[in-house]
Amino acid sequence: MTPQLHSKLPTVSTTIFSVMSGLAAQYRALNLSQGFPDYPVDPVLIDLITQHLQAGHNQYAPMTGVAALRERISQKMARVHGLAVDGDQEITVTAGGTQALFTAIATLVRPGDEVIVFEPAYDSYAPTVRLFGGVVVPIRLQAPDFAIDWDQVRRCITARTRLVMVNNPNNPSGRVLDDADVQQLAAVVADSGAFVLSDEVYEHLVYDGRQPKTLLSHPLLRERTLTVASFGKLLHATGWKVGYCVAAPDLMAEFRKVHQFNVFSVHTPTQWAIADYLADETHYQSLSAFFQAKRDRLAAGLRDSRFRVYCPQGTYFMNLDYRDISDAPEAEFAQTLVREHGIATIPLSAFYHDSYNQHCLRVCFAKRDATLDQAVALLNAV
Ligand SMILES: Cc1ncc(COP(=O)(O)O)c(C=O)c1O
Repeated sequence: MTPQLHSKLPTVSTTIFSVMSGLAAQYRALNLSQGFPDYPVDPVLIDLITQHLQAGHNQYAPMTGVAALRERISQKMARVHGLAVDGDQEITVTAGGTQALFTAIATLVRPGDEVIVFEPAYDSYAPTVRLFGGVVVPIRLQAPDFAIDWDQVRRCITARTRLVMVNNPNNPSGRVLDDADVQQLAAVVADSGAFVLSDEVYEHLVYDGRQPKTLLSHPLLRERTLTVASFGKLLHATGWKVGYCVAAPDLMAEFRKVHQFNVFSVHTPTQWAIADYLADETHYQSLSAFFQAKRDRLAAGLRDSRFRVYCPQGTYFMNLDYRDISDAPEAEFAQTLVREHGIATIPLSAFYHDSYNQHCLRVCFAKRDATLDQAVALLNAV
């Protein structure tokens, strides 16, 4: 008998990020589509990894992560958020943010459970929920402010709601939750008994005087939330795929049961190096000024262009509204830009399950100033 390959994810194809990066390479276009820096990682950090490789830190790390790194993360939580987090019981080092999200969803979502996902949403959320039999309940947020209507959220809550997924600051909208949003979220969670999965990978990339925030600072959310962070974003090294998850001991104990049979442990010398590197807190405290300057450079350069610029409150993404240029749907206009204008972007519709179209394209500004200036020249010519 021939085996039948019944796809568990029949509607999933190659992600838009791979597609646009592929087109950028094909047309030799400037690639502002995928979110990664085009400048080098700090050589100090590279040296530290080399030192730890040579020092023999090359065998399995503990399942929960190298103790020195968990201790450093705990110290960072205290410095940045004033929170006491136990490195032994409440922190696990993961193979990047995506694996932490995957493991958190695997830990909590059972067949038939409903998961609230605010859209636009990072592309891994919905497929992972579905892999574990969960039902995605999308809530659409719209440009330009992407505000959450909490009454709508309450209407979406049912007895089956297991998880509310939040990405703060949000990729791709650039929106940062305010205190009122956090209070509303806590009230929804208190009433429903749902857990929260808070994707905080852009935690430090907040602008205009905002301070990094975690949902763990709220007393009730502290007990019910798994938060996810990524050293890829924190250290300008997206290819390293090292991140972590923080949650209260009972939640973390369950998370670890899944984690140990998923990746078990994460690249050892990198963990040691990051632990050393983060002793100097300026490495993360300087991120917001660093990226704000890039955001402002790009926004200023596009002031007289035909795009309407939505200046983000956080993340390293900006949305450009092209309604004054074309009526074409986003995916089509993005293709035109890459083919005819030499610049690759991501259609915002890719972050909505129904490809909701708002004439917006996402660009990444984690780029050298020279790259941003080149992007400005190309976009001003559209
Ligand atoms: C919102 C969001 N969550 C998670 C991730 C994944 O992080 P990592 O590269 O550490 O897996 C990304 C990466 O782009 C992201 O934008």
